[in-house]
Amino acid sequence: MRLITMTTLTVLPSGKTYEAAAGTTLLKALLDAGEAITSKCGGEARCEACHVTVPAGRKSLSKIQRVENDKLDGIVGVSSNSRLACQAILGEEPVTVELLHL
Ligand code: FES
Repeated sequence: MRLITMTTLTVLPSGKTYEAAAGTTLLKALLDAGEAITSKCGGEARCEACHVTVPAGRKSLSKIQRVENDKLDGIVGVSSNSRLACQAILGEEPVTVELLHL
């Protein structure tokens, strides 16, 4: 039997917190929580709709891969805290994410 490790996901600006399974994409965790985030490309790093910033816990997320990095390079207003939620996989440490497209 495989144990699922849970972590805490805090969503700004609401400040709501959720329990989410490590190994889940940030996008899936946010959608499962009912947060207002969209995916127009089905999580393929092509639409930018899931662009978020991660003010805390960035190191708990999976590293940025080339496809995500290339897409982020073309987004206006990107910051060093930016991630595509569809590409970022939750680790075991708490993460705080800020929704940008409300
Ligand atoms: S869902 Fe389209 S880039 Fe993430």
